[in-house]
Amino acid sequence: MTADRELESELARAAEALKWATRVAVLTGAGVSAESGVPTFRASDGLWEGHRIEEVATPMGFAKNPELVWQFYNGRRENVAKVQPNPGHRALVELEGRYGDGFTLVTQNVDGLHQQAGSRNVLEIHGSLRRTRCTSCSAIEERGLKNLGDRPICSACGGFQRPDIVWFHEALPVDIWEAAQMAAHECNVLLVVGTSAVVYPAASVIPIAKANGATVIECNLTRTDASHAADIGLYGPSGETLPKLLAKLAG
Ligand code: OAD
Repeated sequence: MTADRELESELARAAEALKWATRVAVLTGAGVSAESGVPTFRASDGLWEGHRIEEVATPMGFAKNPELVWQFYNGRRENVAKVQPNPGHRALVELEGRYGDGFTLVTQNVDGLHQQAGSRNVLEIHGSLRRTRCTSCSAIEERGLKNLGDRPICSACGGFQRPDIVWFHEALPVDIWEAAQMAAHECNVLLVVGTSAVVYPAASVIPIAKANGATVIECNLTRTDASHAADIGLYGPSGETLPKLLAKLAG
């Protein structure tokens, strides 16, 4: 079968699964924002390519050189400020409109583009670039995407702020992660979009949904660690495959 015909047949199967579903969960990763111009992590020109993870994405790195960490996150914030949600984000907004309260979007992304596109029930399991957290009083502030300089200060207590991002060696936010696991337990269909599915516990959403009988639909550029669990594979840019899926569902 040619790739086009295979995609067409997988789109039909995916639309059929979604037609029967009452509860839908989605796990997204950096790939869904790639077509907006946000770099992914593990591509050859990806975000982790030019940086040592332990320097910019661990509590130890922050303790050692907070200025370097803030430079890295200010750069990411400024990049996200320049981009817009793409048709993949918008297709997920449309999908939420179909299922209402039965829809949960679990995202590993910290760029806020899902909410900017109009998604409502979004669980940010890795935090947000747009927020800071005080290292003294833990107060969280919405700071938008402007450059915050090397030593942003808490407006509540004057303490030193860090990005409100989950770093390596840190736990996910408890309530948000519990809600994500619950959505994975309860869904009839799980869409896995733009993630290499190698980072845990985030990727465990996939086996949780699978073990509870959900149909797993993978929407990635190419096959990934999630593919062995996927019942249906929509391979190609999600800014193209997701709108096609929505069109099929409407037809
Ligand atoms: P990765 O960079 O690991 O994976 C991105 C995935 O998206 C790959 O499978 C790509 O093939 C796919 N992809 C790229 N462009 C795409 C497109 N246009 N359409 C569809 N798929 C596309 O990013 P994540 O899986 O998100 O964690 O990484 C997971 C976590 O690792 C991140 O949240 C981050 C990172 O370390 C933290 O910072 C805590």
